[in-house]
Amino acid sequence: MAEHAPHGTVASQRHDDILVLTIDHPPVNALSADVRRGLADAICAAQSDSGVRAIVLTGAGRNFIAGADIREFGKSPQPPALPDVCNAIEASAKPVIAALHGAVLGGGLEIALSAHYRIALAGARLGLPEVNLGLLPGAGGTQRTPRLIGAAAALDIMLSGRHASAKEALEWGLVDRIAAEPEARAAGIAYAQELLRQGAGPRPTRDATALQDRAAAQAAIDAARAQLQSRQRGLFSPSRIVDAAQAALDQPFDSGLQTERALFLQCLDSPQRAALVHAFFAERETAKAPETRHAQPRPLLRLGVVGGGTMGAGIAVAMLDAGLSVVMVEQHEEALARGRARVEQVYDLLVAKGRLDAAGKAERMARYTGATQYDALSDADLIVEAVFEDLDVKAAVFAELDRIAKPGAVLATNTSYLDVDRIAAATSRPADVLGLHFFSPANIMKLLEIVVAGRTSPDAVATGFELARRLRKTPVRAGVCDGFIGNRILAVYRQAADLMMEDGASPYDIDAAVRGFGYPMGPYQVADLAGGDIGWATRKRRAATRDPRLRYVQIADRLCERGWFGQKTGRGYYLYPDGARTGTPDPEVLAIIDAERQRAGIAPRPFSHEEIMRRYLAAMVNEAANVLREGIALRPLDIDVVFLSGYGFPRYRGGPMHYADQVGLARILADIREFAPQDPHFWQPSALLIELVESGRDFASLNRA
Ligand code: 3HC
Ligand code: NAI
Repeated sequence: MAEHAPHGTVASQRHDDILVLTIDHPPVNALSADVRRGLADAICAAQSDSGVRAIVLTGAGRNFIAGADIREFGKSPQPPALPDVCNAIEASAKPVIAALHGAVLGGGLEIALSAHYRIALAGARLGLPEVNLGLLPGAGGTQRTPRLIGAAAALDIMLSGRHASAKEALEWGLVDRIAAEPEARAAGIAYAQELLRQGAGPRPTRDATALQDRAAAQAAIDAARAQLQSRQRGLFSPSRIVDAAQAALDQPFDSGLQTERALFLQCLDSPQRAALVHAFFAERETAKAPETRHAQPRPLLRLGVVGGGTMGAGIAVAMLDAGLSVVMVEQHEEALARGRARVEQVYDLLVAKGRLDAAGKAERMARYTGATQYDALSDADLIVEAVFEDLDVKAAVFAELDRIAKPGAVLATNTSYLDVDRIAAATSRPADVLGLHFFSPANIMKLLEIVVAGRTSPDAVATGFELARRLRKTPVRAGVCDGFIGNRILAVYRQAADLMMEDGASPYDIDAAVRGFGYPMGPYQVADLAGGDIGWATRKRRAATRDPRLRYVQIADRLCERGWFGQKTGRGYYLYPDGARTGTPDPEVLAIIDAERQRAGIAPRPFSHEEIMRRYLAAMVNEAANVLREGIALRPLDIDVVFLSGYGFPRYRGGPMHYADQVGLARILADIREFAPQDPHFWQPSALLIELVESGRDFASLNRA
């Protein structure tokens, strides 16, 4: 075995007549300029090295290659370009074998497709996730993939962005075989030796023939385009991906590559690409709260949940799915049986859909224990309380937890609005208490607000973040206030929507405008889904302390008084005849709204969708600025992640703070000042917003601070 000098981030090593090139660029072997240069140089040198008969490409660490270096997007490109590196690999006169493990994504898969043969470890995950970043595979992926596996499979992988298993990749023909060896390098060498013995030479993917059945390919492309038209909500890159697939069918390989390049550059320049890349990094940044850098998480083996209602059951499912053991405590046997049934129901549904087998359900339920006595929680490492939203009830629960929990147990509340400091004060150990605010349905929604109270210790906070990691949630650190980050801001832009409704916009107009912006649902559809009774109870509770200077829109109360709580009662803002899941507009609701306008002495006026969104977003951004100024959110990006992962804000717009920067903060401030004369109490510009505009800065500058 001969050693060659390591080539920067690409190490060359000889194994007899096989050259092994190992990409070694932690953490994920992204294809930075150094890696591209190292690969290109090594491939070039190998061509004239008569001792080399085959080349194996492999990655050091946990992954083959996670793709292009996303941090380089938007900067001036450094040579060599990735498509050129791929072409050089494919043009090698000596067979190139890609030995794949871990993540083989984006440009990483494109490198593998440029190799002549592909072998994967069973655990490898292959994909072209560029679409999630507003891009398309720009290093030959749109041209080689359809030629290799056909248009239908190629469009599936490119448009979904999903990570396929090695098994699926083998079925498609994306890889040639799955390795028997446990290690990619050894598998690659063994495969190369076998190919050399057989006298196999280079086998360029550009010559692959899976597009030969032109009619089938065209049908797949047409079907993909039709599906985009019906499903796509304002996204730019998917239709460019379909255009590139069409070029693969219509054009010779080299012109297809040029078409792909042109389409890639269009995507690269689009604001959607910038927003989606912002979202990608923001989601990784929120996981790094100050406490996670300086404190160690406590152990997390046995978990407890108090309350088996909607949230308690969902939280238990999330924990069971993560392989943890859960004890659920309810008030009495009947409630406990309901709690257990809610957990089982989730799994039964998955079994019915074929997404979980009976053994999977049994294995999870074996880690579930129910109890009606708090003592069952005495050895839990972390307990999440999810009982009724009532401070006295919660304080009583925390007093009990204080009595039975072992020293060092983390005590968490799932409260939506209540003061975590006051809940902590019900115990003798406030340093162990924090908020873990899950979103409904808790086993599905990604967002987890980690609410740090005045006396919460750093290692309790670090434990909250560790739990989020285990549950595969997206954690965001929040401070204590009414509603934390998300619900506090939501209350304000919901109020803006209610004001518009009373002033003349119908709930259907508002929902349509919000959907037009890219949300999956409008606020009144969400209200109907969540159930109007919850908000009604909150409003009644707060009635006595409501600021009398704020306009109070009573429309929702009129609906609730009639028992119209939304989907579950068959009507709310919309009608849901015969258990329908999508609502239809209700003329009676419009009549109630009219009556309310008359009662309030308001002459209704029309609102364009554009004006609706200006007001909705100005209210959102302004309150977000207040939340930042008060230190409830650490950085603007934390707010973006809350709204992207918990409130349906369209990801391709990057979150409200990123969006506000794109629009321009001066413009948002001008909007607020324009609206203010009609309702000066509601439209008070945030001091932070004014400060940023006056100093010519944007929210992004605070992310970097
Ligand atoms: N470029 C630059 N940095 C990257 C990166 C990339 N492609 N992928 C991951 N990273 C960074 C992350 O930002 C993070 O950095 P940090 O530690 O400073 O926060 C670090 O690598 C580790 O990432 P994760 O925390 O996400 O690690 P996981 O182990 O959870 O996940 C992964 C690994 C599945 C590879 C995941 O990081 C991922 O999905 N990465 C993006 C993959 C992707 O989108 N590739 C396509 C890129 S576009 C492209 O290739 C264009 C081409 O067609 C021309
Ligand atoms: P729920 O009413 O469905 O469930 C509450 C459960 O707690 C009931 O099963 C009740 O029997 C049980 N319980 C009450 N007192 C108890 C006690 N002393 N000991 C043990 N169990 C007790 O309520 P839901 O919706 O699950 O909400 C629970 C908490 O989660 C509330 O604080 C709520 O604000 C919060 N939350 C709710 C969300 C939602 O969308 N429903 C979202 C995020 C947070």
